[in-house]
Amino acid sequence: MQSSNTAMHGKNCMVTGATAGIGEVTAQALARMGADVILVGRSQQKCANTVTRIKEKTGNSSVEYLLADLSSQAQIRELVAQFHNRYDRLDVLVNNAGGAFIWRQESVGGIEMTFALNHLNYFLLTNLLLDTIKNSSPARIVNVSSNSHYGANINFEDLEGKRKYWWNTAYGQSKLANVMFTYELARRLEGTSVTVNALNPGFVATDIGKNNGWYTRLILWFLRLWALTPQEGARTNVYLASSHEVEGVTGKYFFKEKQVESDPASYDLEAARRLWEVSAEMVGI
Ligand SMILES: NC(=O)c1ccc[n+]([C@@H]2O[C@H](COP(=O)([O-])OP(=O)(O)OC[C@H]3O[C@@H](n4cnc5c(N)ncnc54)[C@H](OP(=O)(O)O)[C@@H]3O)[C@@H](O)[C@H]2O)c1
Repeated sequence: MQSSNTAMHGKNCMVTGATAGIGEVTAQALARMGADVILVGRSQQKCANTVTRIKEKTGNSSVEYLLADLSSQAQIRELVAQFHNRYDRLDVLVNNAGGAFIWRQESVGGIEMTFALNHLNYFLLTNLLLDTIKNSSPARIVNVSSNSHYGANINFEDLEGKRKYWWNTAYGQSKLANVMFTYELARRLEGTSVTVNALNPGFVATDIGKNNGWYTRLILWFLRLWALTPQEGARTNVYLASSHEVEGVTGKYFFKEKQVESDPASYDLEAARRLWEVSAEMVGI
């Protein structure tokens, strides 16, 4: 993958969900630019294999991994403790791990899985790392959202789909939450040299949805004919994580390396503040 930026030497970059799909390609591209890359994944075997693959492909030996099931708040806290034991700076955080769940499931902490993994994970991990990120500034946070956030809303009366669960509604809500979290965090980071932006990678041929049985996998396999490759899907991640063109740009939403408007609901200041408060309560910070 090409990039306009080759000055990532000496920068610590953490990429979550880096054992597959868009995340792996992002981690690989940053490693190719000379960054010190920290992969986050939930499977030791997959992490070890991905690190080996990236080292072989890029010739960069500074690629390591940390383990966590990011739907678990306890494991996110453990991950951050391990991070602090090993590193003293974080220049780039790419919040990318996510999934779609056709049937309602709950995380080990008893929170609906889509909300726990796709939103509360980004929220808690970022907040726990924020002091380190600020101390490493100029620094960047990149939140992977989705086209699915258009038309979604945050259902404060039933955030976890306890009364009624439809996977697409839950997924859209979580991806709208990614955008609202990004904008609210950007407002809270005003006056610092930390930027935070969200993006839509496009429809990408990855293993997303793999947790939902053979029927879903079959449909996704068929749809792949129209999808972007993971290399194409990761371009905006890499752009926001590394390009000089977006230096100082914050609180924006991107698609295909261009700033675009997100859904009108994402600009609701009151809802964003409320989402922040509810999320803080749910993760206990
Ligand atoms: N693919 C698309 O068309 C598309 C479109 C819009 C947005 N997105 C977004 O892009 C991001 C990446 O998705 P992808 O398409 O690359 O999917 P993917 O191929 O399924 O990769 C998802 C990554 O997240 C990891 N992950 C999943 N659950 C996890 C958990 N509980 N704890 C830790 N890691 C976990 C996976 O690890 P394992 O390897 O262990 O499963 C994998 O590394 C997601 O945020 C998704 O919402 C994707």
